[in-house]
Amino acid sequence: MRLLFLGDLVGRVGRQIVFDRLPGLIERYGIDFVVVNAENAAGGFGVTEEIFNDLLDAGADVITTGNHVWDQREALSFCERTDRFLRPANYPSGTPGRGATLVQSRNGANVLVVNVMGRVYMDALDDPFQAVERELDACGLGEQADVIVIDMHAEATSEKQAMGHFVDGRATLVVGTHTHVPTADHQILPGGTAYQSDAGMCGAYDSVLGMDKEEPVSRFLRKIPSSRFSPAKGEASLSGLCVDVDLRTGLATRVEPFRSGGVLSEALPHHWDAQPPD
Ligand code: FE2
Repeated sequence: MRLLFLGDLVGRVGRQIVFDRLPGLIERYGIDFVVVNAENAAGGFGVTEEIFNDLLDAGADVITTGNHVWDQREALSFCERTDRFLRPANYPSGTPGRGATLVQSRNGANVLVVNVMGRVYMDALDDPFQAVERELDACGLGEQADVIVIDMHAEATSEKQAMGHFVDGRATLVVGTHTHVPTADHQILPGGTAYQSDAGMCGAYDSVLGMDKEEPVSRFLRKIPSSRFSPAKGEASLSGLCVDVDLRTGLATRVEPFRSGGVLSEALPHHWDAQPPD
């Protein structure tokens, strides 16, 4: 089975490259399941219901988020009408929406997607490790779930690596989001869980984290805000991760970076031109 995870969509150019390219990628490579972190999709801040629906129409199966989940207030209501939009599972109990969902992939596998947020250099939330443990207890790999994808939205690489090792052998993929820069540490951990510290972003990389570079540079120089942050308008890159899964175990057999378009060096899933794995 083939999974594609795409890192944080930033602004219009990030959305557009996903709308333009994702349907063709799914068809060309026979991708069975797609998770997209879209917490910066609406002008860099949050997700609207229209963008959420357009992403599903383009082929995304589940949308994950993070600290910007409520920047568009409408997310507080539309999150209750769908099981395909996640906010971090370790928000306080009573928070609208859900942090995990079990949905069926195109090839009939039951895929659990869990979204949690780190606590190091981030807002103080509930313990993400306990939150993940709770979700895995309720829906284990090889039990209710054939595949488990965990989006760990966090600042600190150490916290993301710790999450990878914490669930190694109990999840298919742990992938970091939030820092918007793809890391080169994609690997299969000893227990069989695919891991990458950050999937990068789908957005313009001639920027500061996908935002037009002028204002962030100016704030570092003068510490005086002079305008709002706005998404960069340059050519976007897609950035994420391709994972092959052995459905007999739910564990990863291969993990490769995916980068296409814009200023980043290209990394395409050439191995996916061969026949899909079982
Ligand atoms: Fe974030």
